[in-house]
Amino acid sequence: MTESMKIILIGFMGAGKSTVAALVADQLNLPFIEMDDEIIKVSGLKSIPEIFALHGEATFRAFESEVARKTGSLPSGIISTGGGIVTVAANMHSLKNGRVCIVYLRTSFETVKDRIPNPEARPLLRDPVAAEKLFHARKALYEQWADITIDTDNLSPEEVCSQVVSKIESLV
Ligand code: S3P
Repeated sequence: MTESMKIILIGFMGAGKSTVAALVADQLNLPFIEMDDEIIKVSGLKSIPEIFALHGEATFRAFESEVARKTGSLPSGIISTGGGIVTVAANMHSLKNGRVCIVYLRTSFETVKDRIPNPEARPLLRDPVAAEKLFHARKALYEQWADITIDTDNLSPEEVCSQVVSKIESLV
């Protein structure tokens, strides 16, 4: 049943979306789509920090919306989103096309800091005060879009993967 659905992982930076999505894709034998990688391809640049540095966040968000539209038109897959995907409702509507299950990987801010001690690759984590504000501002958005929520603070990626798979299988 999962072969014709999209499983979309949302959550703050450091939630483990990419790692878990790759594991789930492997287990369910579904395509794995890493939206940040697709954004880098669309930009023609080498990295997310380079997009932010050369063009700013607004341009990054425009690339992200373009990738959300393309990704939404795919028939199936496990999709790892960037942490800011929920800040633009149109992106979520683009992704919610067809049979979709949105999984929120929830973390505490302490865990984010532990998992990303050096935020060079995450422009929006570099200022710790602004990052914590962003974390609290986004919480309600993740809750709003989630079909399933998993608390990941004390779980390994493999444990999160098996929770994702069993929760999805109990839904379909
Ligand atoms: C962002 C999260 C990043 C990346 C970009 C912006 C955000 O992805 O898309 O740096 O706004 O939270 P990850 O959540 O995969 O780190």
